Amino acid sequence: MDRLTLTQPDDWHLHVRDGAALATVVPHTSAQFARAIIMPNLKPPVTTAEQAMAYRDRILAAVPAAHAFEPLMTLYLTDRTPASEIAKAKAAGVVALKLYPAGATTNSDSGVTDLQHVRATLEAMQREGLLLLIHAEVTDPAVDVFDREAVFIERHLMGLRRDFPELKIVVEHITTKDAAQYVESADRFTAATLTAHHLLFNRNALFTGGLRPDYYCLPVLKREVHRLELLRVATSGNPRFFLGTDSAPHPSHLKAHALACAGCYTALSAMPLYAQAFEQAGALDRLEAFASFHGADFYGLPRNTGQLTLKREPWTLPQTLSFGDGQLTPLCAGDTLSWQVEH
Ligand code: DOR
Ligand code: ZN
Repeated sequence: MDRLTLTQPDDWHLHVRDGAALATVVPHTSAQFARAIIMPNLKPPVTTAEQAMAYRDRILAAVPAAHAFEPLMTLYLTDRTPASEIAKAKAAGVVALKLYPAGATTNSDSGVTDLQHVRATLEAMQREGLLLLIHAEVTDPAVDVFDREAVFIERHLMGLRRDFPELKIVVEHITTKDAAQYVESADRFTAATLTAHHLLFNRNALFTGGLRPDYYCLPVLKREVHRLELLRVATSGNPRFFLGTDSAPHPSHLKAHALACAGCYTALSAMPLYAQAFEQAGALDRLEAFASFHGADFYGLPRNTGQLTLKREPWTLPQTLSFGDGQLTPLCAGDTLSWQVEH
């Protein structure tokens, strides 16, 4: 199979930042995806329906005329998000709220310090049908970095699931067999997104030929046994696992830095990277459902009607891209992928 034509996919987890950065990153996504869930961890975060709508307009202004693209907006859940904001968000077209445990990752300082503080808001979300998207890692410094996802499930997710049984929850960018198996055995209200980089790489990538901040993201890459389990659930056909790149651009000088920022920029090569992972698993025939059907179905949105074709033709990724006043280094810069998007 040298050409693969799919229903146009969606990216259910994306960071596009703001300002001049939008002009670089939005077209990379809109060249492949019809819609994307836009993460709200700006500085300051997107916490109100009004801010989300203004941000949406700025994103739309960066979409090339030849592309049709719909940003799906989210709000950043804080300890003080009033329950009354949920109906406003729903009316404005916001589809979900993102829960960052305070301090868990990039721009998460305004995140939730204690789930007790957001109970009324979660109840309103359950009632209005807004989804809860979770960065599922504990921030307890006593917990090993590689265990923070598994511990979050035990300490917080199981209780949330019990207390809000009909709240749709997406466990974002899962990285462990613990999360994969938790979601696999959960009910129809629980799903997970998977990044291409967690399907393709294990934690050895962080230490190959030196310390490699280009592979540093959160949740951090895990052991091979976890990667294999992620690949298994992604290619299993289970409709509660779907594509979310977590493409997270940072300027090159802040990635190659002693305090390297967490985040891998994969938007440019997203579908070729997923094709590579699915091909590795002998499951290219399962890519379309994972990329184009499962997410829309879980969110209760219509499936796309357009198409995207991938062709098997070697493609060497650029070393850098311009990014506002600076530069952006894509993940796998300079590497040759075996698939590319046909334009
Ligand atoms: O690696 C990451 N980068 N993980 C996150 O959770 C946030 C993201 C970002 O915004 O840079
Ligand atoms: Zn993210």
